[in-house]
Amino acid sequence: MRTQVAIIGAGPAGLLLGQLLHKHGIDNIILERQTADYVLSRVRAGVIEQVTMGLLDEAGVGARMHKDGLVHDGVQICVDGVRHRISFKELTGKAVMVYGQTEITKDLMDGRAAVGAPTVYAADDVALHDIFSGAPRVTYRGDSKSHEIDCDFIAGCDGFHGISRKSAPPRAITAHERIYPLGWLGILSDTPPVSEELIYVRHDRGFALCSMRSPTRSRYYIQCSLADDIDSWPDERFWEALRPRLDEEGRERLVTGPSIEKSIAPLRSFVAEPMRFGRLFLAGDAAHIVPPTGAKGLNLAASDVRYLSQAFIEHYADKSDSGLDHYSDRALARVWKAERFSWWMTTTLHRISENPFDLKLQVAELDYLFRSTAAATAFAENYVGLPY
Ligand code: FAD
Ligand code: DHB
Repeated sequence: MRTQVAIIGAGPAGLLLGQLLHKHGIDNIILERQTADYVLSRVRAGVIEQVTMGLLDEAGVGARMHKDGLVHDGVQICVDGVRHRISFKELTGKAVMVYGQTEITKDLMDGRAAVGAPTVYAADDVALHDIFSGAPRVTYRGDSKSHEIDCDFIAGCDGFHGISRKSAPPRAITAHERIYPLGWLGILSDTPPVSEELIYVRHDRGFALCSMRSPTRSRYYIQCSLADDIDSWPDERFWEALRPRLDEEGRERLVTGPSIEKSIAPLRSFVAEPMRFGRLFLAGDAAHIVPPTGAKGLNLAASDVRYLSQAFIEHYADKSDSGLDHYSDRALARVWKAERFSWWMTTTLHRISENPFDLKLQVAELDYLFRSTAAATAFAENYVGLPY
């Protein structure tokens, strides 16, 4: 087989890249380790920046998001039982969209099927070869047979645990990492959300987040220990841990019910530099991870894909490699700002340290955020997404 761009991974980064390239007549094949059903069963992101919405529109897959997504003009932050609101609209003129990653993935998969672009699911033993030559190759196993794809470029969109980053020479990579000593326990339930807007909660008992997928479906998270396993968190225990972290109105309005999904996610900050190795380009979680506080992961994957798709388009249409040469620097400049914001939200809202100095700093940070229009504007600018 031969293609122009071989894409590893059918998460949001790989699928969006494939769709944008196809629109510009650039041939691509996606190789995904899991089945399509498995990819669709992973409940993850929920908040989409305006620039990400724009990209989904550009890729021709935004219609259902505009119909079913919920536009949020602001966010609430509850500190030790007192709620504050930050208005994105007043401070930045922008808004975010609450629309699940599962739905975006489905829209992208449907869009790809509609144009007949190839995706190989359940591709085993994907391996990258000759990435520093002019003729890279990808091999994999599928249907009990070995396959080989010759290509011009490889896009590594295979997430944090994928093979692409590991295929770069170790000496060529610098990894920056911070691991937080806690995780997020999340549940999805068919109960009405406690509030029309998201509530991020800082409480002495630990962080919580009240989010949603629709007016009848809620998504809640609480901070948990990394040693916890899902079986030690029956639904009752989850609701009992969440309720006291809310303010009085939240406690009264909280509707509990059986969970339809429950999972634990570790919190990590990670950046691998650079994001290009010869003809291999990394995008999304393959190159960087943010802790989920601040909802930046999927949005960063989309912004990488914007830079990368434009660079490929320039290469094929204008015969210019300037975009490819600047890809890593451009993407990383935006990545580090999102890393900073996600790190700040995580350390300010979670119970991480028992050191009274750290706890006093958290309260001071938040007090400043609520009293200063400059601080609130900086927060809102970052939350709705920095411009490209
Ligand atoms: P992935 O979604 O990880 O996709 C990579 C794909 O590659 C996968 O399908 C995987 O199966 C495949 N793959 C892996 N290895 C191989 C291989 N060897 N061969 C072939 N295929 C392979 N982000 C936000 O922006 N907003 C939020 O609100 C938000 N909330 C989150 C909440 C939680 C609880 C979690 C866990 C994450 C959240 N994120 C959020 C982060 C977001 O989900 C990720 O950043 C996003 O999925 C990254 O997309 P990706 O395509 O780069 O990687
Ligand atoms: C959701 C996830 C996040 O990480 C976040 O910051 C906000 C919302 C969610 O899954 O709805």
